[in-house]
Amino acid sequence: MGPLAQPTPTAGSTALDRTTAGAPSSRLEMTGISVAFGGVTALSDVSLVVEPGQVHGLIGPNGAGKTTLFNVACGIVRPTAGSMTWRGKPLRRLRPHQLAGLGISRTLQGVGLFPGMTVLENVMIGAHRHARAGFASALLALPRSDRDERELRARATAALADLDAEGFAGRYPGGLPYPVQKRVALARALVAEPELLLLDEPASGLGEDEMHELGELIRRLSGRMSVLLVEHHMDLVMRVCDRITVLDSGKQISAGTPAEVQADPAVTEAYLGDDVEVPAAGEPSATDGGRHRG
Ligand SMILES: Nc1ncnc2c1ncn2[C@@H]1O[C@H](COP(=O)(O)OP(=O)(O)OP(=O)(O)O)[C@@H](O)[C@H]1O
Ligand SMILES: [Mg+2]
Repeated sequence: MGPLAQPTPTAGSTALDRTTAGAPSSRLEMTGISVAFGGVTALSDVSLVVEPGQVHGLIGPNGAGKTTLFNVACGIVRPTAGSMTWRGKPLRRLRPHQLAGLGISRTLQGVGLFPGMTVLENVMIGAHRHARAGFASALLALPRSDRDERELRARATAALADLDAEGFAGRYPGGLPYPVQKRVALARALVAEPELLLLDEPASGLGEDEMHELGELIRRLSGRMSVLLVEHHMDLVMRVCDRITVLDSGKQISAGTPAEVQADPAVTEAYLGDDVEVPAAGEPSATDGGRHRG
């Protein structure tokens, strides 16, 4: 829905895709995923589909298994059972370093920036999918050519500018406020122009205004890519997601549109005793730590 021109459908693509996402097949399907850590069952027979160009929320109380499922999608955790397909092809033995080549980017719970590199260098690393020089030389700041280097810099600077963070390009992440670090981590994920963006708690540590901006950004991005969003802040989740999967104790207890999930008694029950309140449909919740209103 952005100003970007719609690509002309190529031969062989279907007309079924009604979204504006780049590739019609950029669909992530996770089926019957189970994960056990030693004796602990972290996930049990969980299935979800992230449709092209949609924002899919993954919610649930602490310890529900959200990050574990996210890590399965990233190739960090190998499921004990179940299967995944991406772009219509089975994803077997997925390794984290293969993600960029598959059009998948992620931000992890926390920020995970390299402290010894500037903000710009951190973001440049995320662009390696587009740079012929590749990851290793980007890491060592030894691009194959000046042109590669210039291109990489330009892309990284543009990604930072998109997130209003270009003013921090030369700084080291450690000295920056946490919300700025989160934006840099997001710029690093976006600079590769992924078709699927995996976000684990992107709003943690953000104030009300920053969270609102993040919501707008995620909505804007969904025109260009699919998003899997793990998040505790219900306002944000309910506002930006097209569909939501709810986990509790490793099991899927509900799934549907935000309105359907909010109306599901199983969800309310799962959150009883949790400090996160599920807002009534259509009502914003005041539980998002928004103490700095206005
Ligand atoms: N590497 C691991 N080894 C052993 N147990 C683990 C490991 N990772 C997660 N678990 C367990 O698996 C379960 C699910 O954890 P997970 O981190 O996926 O939950 P979560 O929904 O992301 O929680 P939170 O909201 O706190 O981030 C928990 O019981 C957790 O203790
Ligand atoms: Mg988690």
